[in-house]
Amino acid sequence: MTAMSDYPTPNTDRLAAERDTWVAQGVVGKPFFVERAEGARIWDVDGREFLDFVGGIGTANHGHSNPEVVAAVKEQLDSYLHQCFSLHSYEPYIEVCRLMCECHPGDFAKKGFLANSGAEAVENAVKIARYYTKRTGVICLDNAFHGRTLMTMTMTAKKSYKNGLGPFAPEFYRSTGPYPFRGISSDDAIDGLHRLFANQISPENVAAIIYEPVQGEGGFIPMPDDFPLRLQEIAAEHGILTIADEVQAGMGRTGMPSASEHYDTSPDLMTWAKSMGGGLPISGVSGRAEVMDSVYKGGIGGTYGGNPLSCAAATVAIKQVLDPSFQDSAKALGARMRSRLDGMAESVDAIGEVRGLGPMLGIEIVDADGRPDPTTTAAVIANAWDKGLIVMGAGVDSNVIRVLVPLVATEADIEEGMMILETSFQEATSG
Ligand SMILES: Cc1ncc(COP(=O)(O)O)c(C=O)c1O
Repeated sequence: MTAMSDYPTPNTDRLAAERDTWVAQGVVGKPFFVERAEGARIWDVDGREFLDFVGGIGTANHGHSNPEVVAAVKEQLDSYLHQCFSLHSYEPYIEVCRLMCECHPGDFAKKGFLANSGAEAVENAVKIARYYTKRTGVICLDNAFHGRTLMTMTMTAKKSYKNGLGPFAPEFYRSTGPYPFRGISSDDAIDGLHRLFANQISPENVAAIIYEPVQGEGGFIPMPDDFPLRLQEIAAEHGILTIADEVQAGMGRTGMPSASEHYDTSPDLMTWAKSMGGGLPISGVSGRAEVMDSVYKGGIGGTYGGNPLSCAAATVAIKQVLDPSFQDSAKALGARMRSRLDGMAESVDAIGEVRGLGPMLGIEIVDADGRPDPTTTAAVIANAWDKGLIVMGAGVDSNVIRVLVPLVATEADIEEGMMILETSFQEATSG
């Protein structure tokens, strides 16, 4: 098999130089330039074919260039483009809110609101929670990632997204996040929350507790089975709202419309983005109708939120996610990958843990003493890329490989990817 680095790459080289000249270097990225993408495959500008196990960091659950999404966008293109929902309403916006509310578990009336990015959805969920409760405090967890805007960067727990970029937004408090592999249990996290209430902020000043049911960027850490429900009960006791950030874990990623469903929780507010748009930029907040409706007219909104093209794409994407056959095949794909990765962990000492929920899977890599090993992680990722498999890291210590394979990947795609991953581990850890 020819290594990707052995191919001549004149187009990549040219674009890499252009990128260096014109694009701010703070925007991270490899010198890799896409020509075409379909299903779980990407072809670059030099004709190299890659198998994609990252799916635009969770935006391609439906597969790249999903034909139904593409057809819906083309149809919308011929009718009208941007309108600004606050000025000229249009049906696709309403339909996306309805579908998003269908994805929100809980037996209560719900309403929705659309924005552009995950961070914008999270910012708005916090605004809504503060306005409804007339409180200002917001609790977030260790290992959290909620975005890069000022408020969401404040909530994000990884230093490399924050160093020198403050000062941060006030009234955010960080509580213990469960991380069973590192000995932090659900009980420890609940104790941490009580300590926070005792020492730093009284619960009656807290508007919301925000958490990712499966932490993404922080290391693909699924919350322990009982934790979200315990959080929900404690929050309800104190009139605090729960916000489940489903930006990465939602929209089919765990095999269900929301990861919250695995935990039998019904959060007051939920934030959505990434695969919600089937490849187009859109995000949203869904929540209890009385909470969502509490904000006065004009208190939430924006010029581009719920753009018609994105709504056309999201309508198809969410309907697919709500289809039980989509969920069944996503779950089957997750089970197949999980058993292959568990098998790999038995023969590769560097794999400390394989974890996840459905097809949202992470591999934590450790050294001989069980400490985070970002060097080996980076080597495995580099080896995989050179063999044509796109994988990506995660984790506060950058020692987790995340698997966000498009859920339309075939058995052959999965088998090929697993073989490459296994060889990449062997090469990175031998000698
Ligand atoms: C859980 C979670 N919340 C929020 C965000 C921010 O989304 P965006 O990059 O669209 O602003 C992300 C992005 O990875 C995420 O994973």
